[in-house]
Amino acid sequence: MTIKPLTILGIETSCDETAASVVRGVTPGPGEILSNIVFSQTEAHAPYGGVVPEIASRAHLEILDGIIERALSDAKISLAELDGIAATAGPGLIGGVMVGLTTAKALALASGKVLVAVNHLMGHALTARLTHGVEFPFLLLLVSGGHCQLVGVGGVDDFRLYGSTIDDAVGEAFDKTAKILGLPYPGGPAVEAAAENGNPRAYDLPRPLLGKRGSGRAGADFSFSGLKTALRQLAETGISAEDASASFQAAVIDILRDRTRIAMQMFRRDFSEGSGPDSNKLVVAGGVAANQAIGAGMNRLCAEERFTALIPPPRLCTDNAAMIAWAGVERLSAGAKGDALSASPRARWPLATGPT
Ligand code: KG4
Ligand code: ZN
Repeated sequence: MTIKPLTILGIETSCDETAASVVRGVTPGPGEILSNIVFSQTEAHAPYGGVVPEIASRAHLEILDGIIERALSDAKISLAELDGIAATAGPGLIGGVMVGLTTAKALALASGKVLVAVNHLMGHALTARLTHGVEFPFLLLLVSGGHCQLVGVGGVDDFRLYGSTIDDAVGEAFDKTAKILGLPYPGGPAVEAAAENGNPRAYDLPRPLLGKRGSGRAGADFSFSGLKTALRQLAETGISAEDASASFQAAVIDILRDRTRIAMQMFRRDFSEGSGPDSNKLVVAGGVAANQAIGAGMNRLCAEERFTALIPPPRLCTDNAAMIAWAGVERLSAGAKGDALSASPRARWPLATGPT
C-alpha cells in the first residue's frame, strides 16, 4: 500500500522572521520543500539591539499575506490542493503568534482545510526528519534564542526532558556577548565570524555546571549567566573582540559537549539498551545549530560516544515555516484530526517535562 503524501502550508511568526512554506511528504521523511519564504525583520530591530515585540507583530501583520501568496505561487499550489494549514501557536512573542495563528484560522475556515496549531519547538525538533528522514528515537540538542534543552525524542508525542537552561538560552548568551563586545546584531553570526580570527585560549572564562550531574530533571541542565558576567567584567578592562569571541565560543562548546554527554547516558538508558552500538543519533537543531564550530564540536563528541550527528542546513536551523509545515505533516500522519478554530496562542508552551 502506498501512503498518499500530505501537502501542508506552514506559517511562522513567533519571533522576528515572517515565514511561509509549502511542504509535501510522508513520515519519517525526508519531505519535499516546495517553497520556503523567510522574511527576516533584522533591520527593523537592529537599532534596538534586540527584538522589539511591538515592532515585530506590526511587521508580521503588514507582510504575512504577501509572504503566504508567494509561498503558494512558488509551490504552484492553490489553497484547494492543500491537505492542511499549520501555524506556530507558541511558544513565542504573543503578538506575532496571534497574527500567524489568526491568519491560519481564517484560511482554514475559508478553504475548509484542517488547522494544525504547532508547537514551534516541535518544528525545530522534527526538522531532521524533514531533511534526513531520521527515524525515532533520537537525542535532541535544541539550541536557539529562547531555548536550550536536551530532549529524548521517542515519537511525535514522546519528548523527555533531560536538561534545560537554568538561566539564559545559549542564543541569548551569544546575543548578549555581541552587545558587550560591541558587535552587530544579531549576535550569533557576528560572534562566530569574530571568533574565526581570535584565540580561543586568550581568556580563561568559566564553564558553569561543567562535570556536575544533577539528579532527575536537573541531570543535564545548562547555565550560561556566569559566563556572560565574567565576560562583562573582562570587557571593562579592555579586550580584543576577536579573542573574547573565540574564548566565549570555546566555553560554550565545552558546556554543550559536557551536558550532551550526560544526556547521552540518559538517552541510552531510556531508548537503546540492547541495540547496536552505532544506532544512536544526536540531532542538533535551533538557530545556534547554524554555528559551524559548535557543529564540529558536537561531531567530535558523537565520534567519541558512538552517536551519529545530524545537523540540518543553517537555513532550516534558524526560524522558518518549512519546519512548521513538516510538524503539520507529522501530527496529521500520527492520527491527529487537526485543532479547533478556537485554539489559543500561547506565549509559553513547554515541549517536554522532566520526570517529577
Ligand atoms: O531558532 P532561532 O532562529 O529563533 C528562536 O526560536 O530563538 O534562533 C535564533 C538565535 C539567536 O540568538 C541567534 O543569535 C542564534 O540563534 N544564532 C547563532 C548563529 N546563528 C543564529 N548563534 C551562534 N552562531 C550562529 N552562527
Ligand atoms: Zn526557533
